[in-house]
Amino acid sequence: MMRNNNHRDTVIEVKGLKKLFGSFTAVDGVSFEVKRGEIFGFLGPNGSGKTTTIRMLLGLLPPSEGTALVLQHDIQRQSRMIRSRLGYMSQKFTLYNDLTVEENLLFYGRAYGLRNKRLKDRIQYVLEMADLKGREHETPPKLSGGWRQRLALGAAILHEPDIVFLDEPTAGVDPLSRRAFWDLLYEISAQGTTIFVTTHYMDEAEHCENLAFIYYGGLIAQGAPGDIKTEHLPGDVVQITPVNATSALAVLNDAQASGMLGDALDINLYGAQIHILTHQAETTRQRVIDTLDHAGERYSDVDVIPPSLEDAFIRLVQAQH
Ligand SMILES: Nc1ncnc2c1ncn2[C@@H]1O[C@H](COP(=O)(O)OP(=O)(O)OP(=O)(O)O)[C@@H](O)[C@H]1O
Ligand SMILES: [Mg+2]
Repeated sequence: MMRNNNHRDTVIEVKGLKKLFGSFTAVDGVSFEVKRGEIFGFLGPNGSGKTTTIRMLLGLLPPSEGTALVLQHDIQRQSRMIRSRLGYMSQKFTLYNDLTVEENLLFYGRAYGLRNKRLKDRIQYVLEMADLKGREHETPPKLSGGWRQRLALGAAILHEPDIVFLDEPTAGVDPLSRRAFWDLLYEISAQGTTIFVTTHYMDEAEHCENLAFIYYGGLIAQGAPGDIKTEHLPGDVVQITPVNATSALAVLNDAQASGMLGDALDINLYGAQIHILTHQAETTRQRVIDTLDHAGERYSDVDVIPPSLEDAFIRLVQAQH
């Protein structure tokens, strides 16, 4: 499969896109490109401007400034011409609860202009793809969250769009369902559909070919996950699994403040663990052990691990303040 970006055409080209609601800037001049067939991850905390950006790209909301081309068409003037080539699974996606699975797909398929054999074939394809065979006659409230999300995805790609926009499609579903959902995304992407997906999950972000990270309306990083890590995370991470994370963190912060941890760049709580970013992983690891032992802080592990995207984003966000 050809995966070299230079040889793929650009299907979304955004330049200085801005959206103001009154005097509030929701999207602050973002610029990025998406290549055909890629899985592009659009990340950012709540309220950072992801949905607003998607709505502009779909031609549902006029930008205040800037331009964007989607499939070579200007989003302000030519959106209607490409609407049938785009798919959208909105954040609060809508399935009709009083229609069966099959009726939902029929409804969306017809709305997208599919008829007769093509409509039938595509519905069969989606039922198989989403593992909904045998559930055609159930209604969405009877399905588990994972199935509902796959059905909503199926509805968004029935008409074989060039690009599908998925706004937090896996929010609130269990890890196994999320895995199954991403397997579907790979399948759809391998068939040439470009996937623009927003997510809060860092494991999902690692699976994207390219990412853009939006924060308070502005992009603070973009590129392939590996490149973002090497660019923004100089060094390795020492990971500590303490018995009491709060008191261990206080001890390590004190040690860093008095210069006892060497070149520790920053120390962060990471769930029940502590991550220290450092240029000298082995030295820092030994000093952490000495410090914790000296303070009588108990721990089960102190390891050197490669940095994750989450480490990179925590650092990027801290750099903003
Ligand atoms: N129609 C609107 N009028 C006024 N403010 C709005 C409007 N739509 C969005 N906003 C504000 O713009 C900001 C960005 O919202 P947006 O929904 O794009 O964020 P998001 O990144 O999608 O967040 P989430 O992860 O919670 O879905 C928020 O502060 C939101 O309150
Ligand atoms: Mg949103």
